[in-house]
Amino acid sequence: MATDQVLHMNGGVGETSYAKNCSIHRKVLFKEKPILEGSVIRVYHNLVPKCLKVADLGCSSGSNTLFIVSEIMDAIHAASFSLNYQPPEFQFFLNDLVGNDFNTIFKLLPDFFKKLEMEKGKKFGSCFIAGVPGSFYRRLFPSNSMHFFHSSFGQHWLSQVPKGLTSGGLPLNKGNIYVTESSPPAVLRAYQEQFQEDFKLFLRLRSEELVRDGGMLLIFLGRVETNELLSPFGLVGMTLHDMVLEGIVEEPKLDSFDIPFYTPTPEEVRQIIDAEGSFTLQRIEVLKIGWDADMNESEEDNIEVFDNKMRAKFIANYMRACAEPLLTKQFGSAIMDELFLRFMNKVVQLLEVKRLEHNNLVLSMTKNL
Ligand SMILES: C[S@@+](CC[C@H](N)C(=O)[O-])C[C@H]1O[C@@H](n2cnc3c(N)ncnc32)[C@H](O)[C@@H]1O
Repeated sequence: MATDQVLHMNGGVGETSYAKNCSIHRKVLFKEKPILEGSVIRVYHNLVPKCLKVADLGCSSGSNTLFIVSEIMDAIHAASFSLNYQPPEFQFFLNDLVGNDFNTIFKLLPDFFKKLEMEKGKKFGSCFIAGVPGSFYRRLFPSNSMHFFHSSFGQHWLSQVPKGLTSGGLPLNKGNIYVTESSPPAVLRAYQEQFQEDFKLFLRLRSEELVRDGGMLLIFLGRVETNELLSPFGLVGMTLHDMVLEGIVEEPKLDSFDIPFYTPTPEEVRQIIDAEGSFTLQRIEVLKIGWDADMNESEEDNIEVFDNKMRAKFIANYMRACAEPLLTKQFGSAIMDELFLRFMNKVVQLLEVKRLEHNNLVLSMTKNL
């Protein structure tokens, strides 16, 4: 199954929307900020363009994409001020798949522009924003036309469900939707190979679109311990398996479904970048954050204590916002409330015994000559 026609996050601004449930992603973007500033300023110093052309790939339908636009403009503003340069104009392209709810972002633009003018004044370079629908596993921009790419939480989504997940017509990953401890080794290999193919293609396409000395900052989910396979999607699979045992979900539906998603190790990523050859990896870091976004990490005047049920609800909400459209296509909408309630209860049990962490890989790269 190709991802580009079916994948999207929950649109709109309702309770289960991505827009309402993207605060964990925002928290990681805050942590990523110094690396983003360093990368975009390096590109600006090298190129000093009159109009800086930037794309956010996999922008989705929440406000995080405009947060990134602001961060980049602030960094360039400060850099141009310190060099006594006239700030550039900006052209931002917001990209996602065709099923994305672009309108929810576009509706935020009038307020965004008003705030920009109030904060920066008319002297600051103009900012133009456009939507670009399409898969980042295809060409999106003309050759040698872009200065910088940003992409957060996109590249762990594969272009398709990996090939090689069946043997003699039978599913290899029976009872699961993702790689788990009980998956045969061929399943992990199939996911690794699909990621390698996709990420290599992604790098080649972006290098064709970037100007010389252009840069790219990517952040996506990875894993550090190669044998640690406990993941939210693994847990969704286990929950569906329980529902099969109780006759709520049909077994063939579960057995024939695999999620087009993969979390590579930093070493896998480094090897693909080296082998593909278009980019120099300036920096790679792992930013760890609890599945619950470390909710009890006090933010000084906002000290609140969350119990495991509240944390599990938070986790279930963002998982639902990201996965519901794909899961609904296979299992129907009628089971979604039940599925995510059961998923939440599983997470409560796990939180009692384990610290659950996402490993976010942050990669800063520059295009080779
Ligand atoms: C979890 S959201 C992240 C949104 C936003 N970047 C953020 O940080 O909050 C991931 C987005 O990547 C998009 N995506 C996944 N595969 C894609 C592809 N091949 N091309 C373009 N967008 C893709 C999804 O549709 C989704 O909107």
